[in-house]
Amino acid sequence: MLELSFELKGANLFQPFIVSTRSRSARLPQRRRAVTLAGVLSIHALTKSYAGPRPRTVFSGVDLELAAGDYVAVMGESGVGKSTLLNMIAGLDRADSGSIRLDGSELGALDDDALTRLRRSAMGFVFQAFHILPYLTVAENVSLPLSLLGVTGGDARDRVAAMIGAVGLGDRGAALPRELSGGELQRIAIARALVHRPRLVLIDEPTGNLDPESAQQVLRLLRDCLAGNGAIGILVTHSPAAAHTADRILVLSRTGLREQAPQAFPEAP
Ligand SMILES: Nc1ncnc2c1ncn2[C@@H]1O[C@H](COP(=O)(O)OP(=O)(O)OP(=O)(O)O)[C@@H](O)[C@H]1O
Ligand SMILES: [Mg+2]
Repeated sequence: MLELSFELKGANLFQPFIVSTRSRSARLPQRRRAVTLAGVLSIHALTKSYAGPRPRTVFSGVDLELAAGDYVAVMGESGVGKSTLLNMIAGLDRADSGSIRLDGSELGALDDDALTRLRRSAMGFVFQAFHILPYLTVAENVSLPLSLLGVTGGDARDRVAAMIGAVGLGDRGAALPRELSGGELQRIAIARALVHRPRLVLIDEPTGNLDPESAQQVLRLLRDCLAGNGAIGILVTHSPAAAHTADRILVLSRTGLREQAPQAFPEAP
């Protein structure tokens, strides 16, 4: 029932997680073949351009190797392609050339349904604008990834309760999102991103809508939850303070992704 309302009301926002082209009966066997990852992300010579009246290359020569437990920040000026890169890693946008492999599986070789299943089972997402569905309770929001994977009943309830507790909002499961602050909503989004134990968590400007104190709380929580979960985390941010919470800082430019010493990005006093 929850999944039905999710598919109908959340269709736009969560379209990337919905296998849309098959009948329900045709989809069931595929659900059981959820893709699992040992936790290696390998990107090589990635190039992205946009066509149009004035075609332009966004970036080229992007290489990246990450393993389970790695947490990196990606910085770079506005428009350089940070969100585009995350979308490509999520399989939402295709590369012009180069490769993205998740645990040996080449994303460019997967069809849309396979990419959808990979996103559902192996990835979690946190966005600047939270994207918490307003008509579902906190617990229902957090349980959405489990519903999509067919995990229901007591097992799902236990995992949701544990995850809401882990982000410090154990007593708010029955609340509606409008009863929560921005920082609390982002903590719920973190719970939702991790509840299905993804191997890869993609995070785009998670603190852009938060006051400094809530931002620090959210960033600490992200770092701790990722460490506890053993996932790969990629944090896109403009904020040096946010970037410093990751283990390494990478800077995206038109010609690639380069590691920078944290001292190159002093935190504001
Ligand atoms: N669908 C599209 N068609 C054409 N150009 C696009 C499209 N999507 C993004 N772009 C362009 O690609 C470039 C990279 O955009 P992207 O949103 O990835 O940048 P960003 O680094 O995330 O920027 P910001 O820090 O402002 O969020 C921009 O110049 C943008 O205008
Ligand atoms: Mg962006």
